[in-house]
Amino acid sequence: MEVTYKVHRKDPENGGESSYSTYQVDLPEDATVLDGLQKIRDEQDDSLAFRASCCQGYCGECAVRINYKAQFTCTTKIAAVTKKSPEILCDPVRNIPVIKDLVFDMDRFTWDKMAAMKPWMEPDDEFAPTENLVPESEMAEVRKTMSCYQCGLCDEGCAVLPVDFDFLGPGAMVKGYRFVMDPRETGAKMEARMKVVEQPKGLWDCVHCYEANGKCPRGLAPSSKIMEIRDVAFKEGITHEKVARHHASFINSVKQTGWLDERKLAMETEGLTNVTGLMKLLPTAVRALRRGKMPGRHEKRPGADQIKRILEKAEDSK
Ligand code: SF4
Ligand code: FES
Repeated sequence: MEVTYKVHRKDPENGGESSYSTYQVDLPEDATVLDGLQKIRDEQDDSLAFRASCCQGYCGECAVRINYKAQFTCTTKIAAVTKKSPEILCDPVRNIPVIKDLVFDMDRFTWDKMAAMKPWMEPDDEFAPTENLVPESEMAEVRKTMSCYQCGLCDEGCAVLPVDFDFLGPGAMVKGYRFVMDPRETGAKMEARMKVVEQPKGLWDCVHCYEANGKCPRGLAPSSKIMEIRDVAFKEGITHEKVARHHASFINSVKQTGWLDERKLAMETEGLTNVTGLMKLLPTAVRALRRGKMPGRHEKRPGADQIKRILEKAEDSK
């Protein structure tokens, strides 16, 4: 099968400009995209740089954008990506500084961010220093996240990273989840762990676009994991962040009156003692008043008690 590879090139030792090289490759029908890249390097161009290690879809090393979609080259069959055109476009994964051709900076992309999560367990004193049996029901989800390849495909789909590369990203948050949900970190250790995940550029910077969920080859639903950590933060009573105050105000309002008190929501989100933040709301309030859009009196609605019960039931079932 004759295929055309169009591969991104960039060589910092040679000006560092991005360009493309085109190669004709003859491959068997069941070849993978990685097979083709290796053949190019072996037979046509030994300067081509790309990463791969396990060649079986386990290590996550070979992530590349193939025809605009980030995938593993070692598990992607050429037959699957040449259905519409015999050309295979290979680009480096987005949002990451490229070192050479398809090789990107794994330190800045993944390892520095994983390290920021302090990826080691600090069990509460009652669990140390002996072996501890942990109920399977509490470890099942945690164990799943331990199978993360740390490939960064979830970060590749993240909506925040293109505008703020310092955001820790869903991949690092999945690592954080692994420790937040571990039942052996309790009490003060749990508090310390929450401080790690909600550090600046961490937990609260996710914009819940849920894009990362569709990118993970392990089906770990990284965006949902971030939301689950936030649920823990709310349960732990963490209210110093705007997002947490917004959430708490929303829930309290609906529980008390059966519907949303928008005036209170705006003020409580800023923080009732945050004078500067409250002053910033004034122009919006004046505009709303002038246009007759200022919410009126907020009274308890009929059925509010049932709504409160539904909310409490949903909270209990988490
Ligand atoms: S959560 Fe999934 S996509 Fe993200 S790094 Fe882990 S395996 Fe890769
Ligand atoms: S080389 Fe390991 S996942 Fe592709």
